[in-house]
Amino acid sequence: MLFYCAPMEGITGYPYRNTHNKMFPGTDRYYMPFLSVHPEVTLSKKEKKEINPENNRDYVSIPQILGNNAEGAAKYAIFLKNLGYNEININAGCPSKTVTSKHKGAGMLDDPYMFDKFLNELFTRLDGSDINISLKTRIGMREKENIPDLIKVYNKYPFCEVIIHPRLGTDQYKGSPDMDSFDIFYKKLIHPVCYNGDIKTTDDIEKIVSRYPKLHAIMTGRGLLADPCLIVKAKGGDDASMKHIESYTRELYKAWTNDMQSPDMAMLRMKELWTYQKALFEHSEKYIKEIMKARSPEAYNSAVYAIFHSLK
Ligand SMILES: Cc1cc2nc3c(=O)[nH]c(=O)nc-3n(C[C@H](O)[C@H](O)[C@H](O)COP(=O)(O)O)c2cc1C
Repeated sequence: MLFYCAPMEGITGYPYRNTHNKMFPGTDRYYMPFLSVHPEVTLSKKEKKEINPENNRDYVSIPQILGNNAEGAAKYAIFLKNLGYNEININAGCPSKTVTSKHKGAGMLDDPYMFDKFLNELFTRLDGSDINISLKTRIGMREKENIPDLIKVYNKYPFCEVIIHPRLGTDQYKGSPDMDSFDIFYKKLIHPVCYNGDIKTTDDIEKIVSRYPKLHAIMTGRGLLADPCLIVKAKGGDDASMKHIESYTRELYKAWTNDMQSPDMAMLRMKELWTYQKALFEHSEKYIKEIMKARSPEAYNSAVYAIFHSLK
């Protein structure tokens, strides 16, 4: 069983990946937040840093692309392959309205015929290029009726892996993952399958592994942000001490500060991380409030000190 870190735009950028891998080694792959596809490869300064191989050494990073222009997507895939990336992931799961209204991300799942056309053109353009293409998908956009058609479409293409987040696009992140629908994908897809959704503990992992023994991988996003040691433990390692988690939290703040050249901006990133990481602490409300209230790096640092040294 392989364990992946989910892409999370705004959080799991390279400062996170480098710090997490250094302090909690063992994650098999880190999927990168999406790059939006343009007709020609066009990258912002932030995106250039994100995919720079120098910023992604020591672990496996998989770039992800989002868009419905197959010609552009093929150009991105070839560009990324030339940078040294062996796998490119297609985002068919982003539920944001600005994305789905343009028939991108989860919006592509509304029309299996159009999605098939997109994939057909993409794979035709990449024929002979030796690029592994994986897919990250939801079970549909607004209805489950498309599941059989989506499975038929997916089984036409040589994806190296299909990662399934069993919610509809319209569910956003609400409700529980739809395991009955996941069952159907798991049974019918011809590709290696990865499960993604609401994995928070090693118990959650054990349940999935025992229900789906042929699963290739498990991907975790918010669960890993809440407990950075989750994958280490899933692989049989020891739980981390609070001291180690404190060092990781401080290193991550430093890494974001270096990247953004601004401790204030980095503090905002860290506050977002704390919305997940607070789950590690019991009765932490008052301490988390102090972290969120902090208006300066000094106030932030002392609030972080307080949570680690007052709570267990
Ligand atoms: C803030 C945030 C940003 C996300 N960014 C991306 C992204 O760039 N690409 C993607 O495929 N999924 C993205 N996702 C979805 C996650 O990768 C994952 O599928 C989802 O959170 C469910 O898994 P989890 O329950 O383990 O978190 C994002 C989710 C969140 C909450």
